[in-house]
Amino acid sequence: MEVSNPGLLIAIPLIALAYVTLNRWNRSPGPLPPIPAGKLPILGHLLQMPQSHEWLKYLEWSDQTGSDILCYQVLNSHVIVLNSFKAVSELFEGRTSIYSNRPTLLALRHILGFHWVLGLMPYGKQFLEVRKASNHYLHNASIKKYRPIQTVAIHSMLRGLHREPEKFVEHARHMAGRIILNVTYGIEPNPTYIRTVYHSVLGLGLGLSPRALLHDMFPFLLKLPEWFPLFRFKADAKKFSPYVAALPDLPLDETRKAMAEGTARPSMAASMLADGGLPDSIIRSVTGSLYLAGTETTVATITNFFLAMLKYPDVQHKARSEIDSVVGPNRLPDFRDEPNLPYLSALIKELYRWRVVTPLGTPHSLIVDDVYRGYHFPKDSIVISNLHAIMHDPVAFPEPNVFRPERYLEDAGKPTSTRSSDGVFGYGGRVCPGRYLTKSNTWLAVASILATFDIEKATDEDGCVIEPDDVGATSGVVSFPLPFKCKITPRSEAAAALIAGTADEEVVIPLP
Ligand code: HEM
Repeated sequence: MEVSNPGLLIAIPLIALAYVTLNRWNRSPGPLPPIPAGKLPILGHLLQMPQSHEWLKYLEWSDQTGSDILCYQVLNSHVIVLNSFKAVSELFEGRTSIYSNRPTLLALRHILGFHWVLGLMPYGKQFLEVRKASNHYLHNASIKKYRPIQTVAIHSMLRGLHREPEKFVEHARHMAGRIILNVTYGIEPNPTYIRTVYHSVLGLGLGLSPRALLHDMFPFLLKLPEWFPLFRFKADAKKFSPYVAALPDLPLDETRKAMAEGTARPSMAASMLADGGLPDSIIRSVTGSLYLAGTETTVATITNFFLAMLKYPDVQHKARSEIDSVVGPNRLPDFRDEPNLPYLSALIKELYRWRVVTPLGTPHSLIVDDVYRGYHFPKDSIVISNLHAIMHDPVAFPEPNVFRPERYLEDAGKPTSTRSSDGVFGYGGRVCPGRYLTKSNTWLAVASILATFDIEKATDEDGCVIEPDDVGATSGVVSFPLPFKCKITPRSEAAAALIAGTADEEVVIPLP
């Protein structure tokens, strides 16, 4: 074809380019949320990805950008961080059907072996089945039948604290493990079970780390051999994967064996197995997921309680006076006392808020493209709720680092209906199904410890008081206080006698 006007040779491609660009621009769903400074071509924020305590870095980025929603990019993946209650509740609750998925998390599933875990399951048929069964056994009305188990486990923790007070974290771990193993499988803990869950939770932390997320961007990393020198993820994962593999089967096999021998105690597993309505794979997922999620979170909470009482003796005294006036000196607190102890309930709310044990919850993933406040959220973005940021918002919780139960009380000492720390359990379709059980465990554990023990600062070999000023927190999916010492002694001989009197309860605990 002959072109009579050579100018057209230049004009036509330019017009075409302008058309395509304009068309794209018109269809552009909007800009991405503010992005922290320092993005590199192609790599994005790969080199700036926080290696630990990400929740603090995300708050710093919010300060830099002046925005409570952020988006950082790693290669072609988007990570959206929600740093406020408004954003998390509007999206996770308001648009729950598109925000309740989980990211692919290839390393977690395929290298560490967590494919059976409810908390990591993609939204879909299997997730809905496992979630439904979990809710059935853990909703607010169901958990009342676990009270005898909770009471026996917590009283046994009191005896442990009396015997070996310096091992307070281990006693909390034994208590939490005992409750969850009894409720879920009708079995008692042994060192293997406790070790298995402890190492699996550490493996979960590795599997959710930025290094693990690289597998989702470069799936070929899954194929690297364990000995590969520059990227030793598989070698590190191997320390945990045997525990992850054993976790859902070990206790379930014990329940099966007890059922075959006719000695099984009532439990979720026994009832699901006897009912026969659910396939084995679902029963394994439900029970294993609760066992995995239910122990270390409670241990971290009780450890934070000891730290809070060390740092805030006035709170300790106030809560104890309330317990003394309601419960009196001749018995231990029990669940019936709860409505009469508003200061204690406020203390527990503050305990969850003060040091959030799951500071970033579990990552969600977006099922379709979305637009929020004019910003484009691309499909498949990883969406992170910064629960630490929400619970430390200085407007909702003035002086957020101070432990102050009065935040939840009106002047007359009655609970406020407007402020709560329940957000630590997440929002929307993936909210924690174990929240009622763990809240009641924590309530009775804290009430019983305060009723019987004084918690004070420890002294060193020279008799000098050890100040618990700046006890840091571990990073990872469950955040613990770093190790600290405290002195735990029975308040009185009468309290010691009450503790000793609980030994008679050491009998098998049938669920009613
Ligand atoms: C202090 C105690 C606890 C805290 C702070 C906590 C917090 C959380 C959070 C933040 C999530 C993720 C929510 C989200 O994805 O948005 C979660 C999920 C979950 N929690 Fe808890 N939790 C605690 C105790 C427990 C207990 C005792 C159990 C079991 C009995 C449990 C079982 C689960 C399960 C199975 C999930 C996954 C739910 C899903 O993905 O659908 N948690 N929890």
